[in-house]
Amino acid sequence: MDSRKNHADGGAAAVPEAGLPAPEHLLRLDKVGKHYGNIIALHDVTMDVDAGKVTCVLGDNGAGKSTLIKIIAGLHPHDEGTFTALGAERHFMSPRSALDLGIAAVYQDLAVVSLMPIWRNFFLGSELTTGSGPFKRLDVARMKEITRKELQAMGIDLRDVEQPVGQLSGGERQCVAIARAVHFGAKVLILDEPTAALGVKQSGVVLRYILQARDRGLGVIFITHNPHHAYPVGDRFLLLKRGRSIGYYSKEDVTLDQLTAQMAGGAELEELAQELEALGSHREVVAEVQAEVGRGPART
Ligand SMILES: Nc1ncnc2c1ncn2[C@@H]1O[C@H](COP(=O)(O)OP(=O)(O)O)[C@@H](O)[C@H]1O
Ligand SMILES: [Mg+2]
Repeated sequence: MDSRKNHADGGAAAVPEAGLPAPEHLLRLDKVGKHYGNIIALHDVTMDVDAGKVTCVLGDNGAGKSTLIKIIAGLHPHDEGTFTALGAERHFMSPRSALDLGIAAVYQDLAVVSLMPIWRNFFLGSELTTGSGPFKRLDVARMKEITRKELQAMGIDLRDVEQPVGQLSGGERQCVAIARAVHFGAKVLILDEPTAALGVKQSGVVLRYILQARDRGLGVIFITHNPHHAYPVGDRFLLLKRGRSIGYYSKEDVTLDQLTAQMAGGAELEELAQELEALGSHREVVAEVQAEVGRGPART
């Protein structure tokens, strides 16, 4: 399976799993950075993604979350640090190369064709056919059957796969997209703010499917600005702010309160301080706000 180990040794040595260093990460970003002209969108970011684990990326608007995903999903290559995926250093030049390795991204504004039945959307671009030559046609029955089965396997109960995608709720669409990625063999699943536009109940549904994907052995990257969504499902948390990492924790090392405080409190106060500064406020006021910021997350 792992051809890269087959160097000069012919790959013959059967390496026992136990007692040796832990299997390597599905993905590893090491001090990765990216700039757009003069804008540093991302700098010095280190993060791992493992099979059967959920890595959450948290940050406000402009934090660099999308830039990070774009590097991993092959839309924009990084220009600093190293990005290792599935055993080799990568510099993806197109989403196709990422996808071929099993890195699938589900974007918030899902490109679904609303009038299309669910099964059709599920197989879009990878349609199954039957027969050959002039008799080749879509294997509708099999596609419907597989769609039904895969959705069921994810615990998604949709009465009718013939239903147009447009009739599904936002949460259900996310779930169909997740099931689709799982079916087509994704090893890494990137979810860009899948709960951002959803209410509490639907968010809960999506969070459940994140766990389902994790339990099926995928490495999940869950992007969100909501620590309350991230904490219950996450194994690791990367906090980004203005393109920099302001924290990278295992779940054991951080509480929900700490995540929330670091996300919200600090960021808001600092922004306020900057706004005041820009407005040319009195130095004392600025200093006071900055002192607040400096006091850190425990406050507010
Ligand atoms: N294509 C681009 N060209 C120029 N600047 C960009 C581009 N994409 C993102 N940026 C800038 O990079 C920073 C990080 O953006 P982004 O990764 O979209 O953050 P997030 O997804 O966390 O909101 C922002 O300052 C943004 O304006
Ligand atoms: Mg974004």
